[in-house]
Amino acid sequence: MANSQTPVTVTLTGAGGQIGYALLFRIASGQMLGADVPVRLRLLEIPQGLKAAEGAALELQDAAFPLLAGVDVTDDATAAFDGVNVALLVGARPRGPGMERADLLAANGGIFGPQGAAINAGAADDVRVVVVGNPANTNALIASAHAPDVPAERFTALTRLDHNRALGQLAAALDAPVGGLRDVTIWGNHSASQYPDVSHATLDGAPVLPLLAERLGGADAAERWLAEEFIPRVAKRGAEIIEVRGSSSVGSAASATIDHVRDWVGGTSPGAGWTSVALPSDGSYGVPEGLISSFPVESVDGQLRIVQGLAVSKFSRARIDASVAELAGERDAVRALGLL
Ligand code: NAD
Ligand code: LMR
Repeated sequence: MANSQTPVTVTLTGAGGQIGYALLFRIASGQMLGADVPVRLRLLEIPQGLKAAEGAALELQDAAFPLLAGVDVTDDATAAFDGVNVALLVGARPRGPGMERADLLAANGGIFGPQGAAINAGAADDVRVVVVGNPANTNALIASAHAPDVPAERFTALTRLDHNRALGQLAAALDAPVGGLRDVTIWGNHSASQYPDVSHATLDGAPVLPLLAERLGGADAAERWLAEEFIPRVAKRGAEIIEVRGSSSVGSAASATIDHVRDWVGGTSPGAGWTSVALPSDGSYGVPEGLISSFPVESVDGQLRIVQGLAVSKFSRARIDASVAELAGERDAVRALGLL
């Protein structure tokens, strides 16, 4: 990453959209990369989205952020990713009426393949990529497959939103502040099959499972709450937000993206526990190598590392396996479409 005098180049795709708008002002104010790190923004849109991105660029100028070294708006992926240090791939094709799953994967392959190739052609050596646009894990796999010169571990997908959602639900159930909780894990896919796991979580250093049992009337009641309320609530929270607000999450998704990059670049704080990141599996925890799956992850010296040696119960194993099977199915589908 550049030193504090050289601007870091951040490329944001889908910059004219909802999450893009929520992200831009936080990036430009230093909340993602640090209060002393200048940033150059490259906003990539499709032609229909250019006006919205240009409007956001005008507003960025009006906000007079001292850290903002420049803003370029373009619909040319090669120009957008030239010299990029941090790539936020937010723009994606939403599922339309009558679209089958294979249609969605194919439409997004048409976006993430060329963007991966543009990253391969022009990115800085230290490039870090986070895919937010859905289906995020498989879109990241496609982008990575088109960037053979970029180490695969630089391609990640966002499950920090799911991680934060799990913290929020757990804090509410325990009537405790979020800040005392640590070591929650999201495993698998950013989809309803994901497994939010609290079996290693602690509150102020105390394991949460006995605390839940105490509050909910015993260990059986706590297990029931986890299986029937907590896990589905977190896993289907995206759908709940769509139902309640009429469109998918924006502020929380942007906030999680900021958290993801901040922790990757700056490190997870020692003592603050791990986070969740979808990254290429190295075979840990029985997840087939290469699948972009969410794991418990620490960031040390700018590198993401899967936390090793955690005990995995039978209950957890079945749920991890189910989500990983879905990821393998998506990989096989995009491979069959010639996108890998
Ligand atoms: P949005 O429709 O408001 O904005 C998307 C923008 O992307 C649009 O402006 C569109 O023009 C642009 N776009 C489309 N194709 C593009 C391309 N090839 N290059 C550049 N830009 C392109 O949507 P949003 O609310 O900002 O959500 C964006 C994506 O993030 C969606 O796929 C959504 O499902 C996903 N999402 C993911 C998470 C997560 O946790 N991983 C959470 C929330 C939303
Ligand atoms: C979310 O988790 O809020 C989104 O991924 C939901 C969606 O389908 O956009």
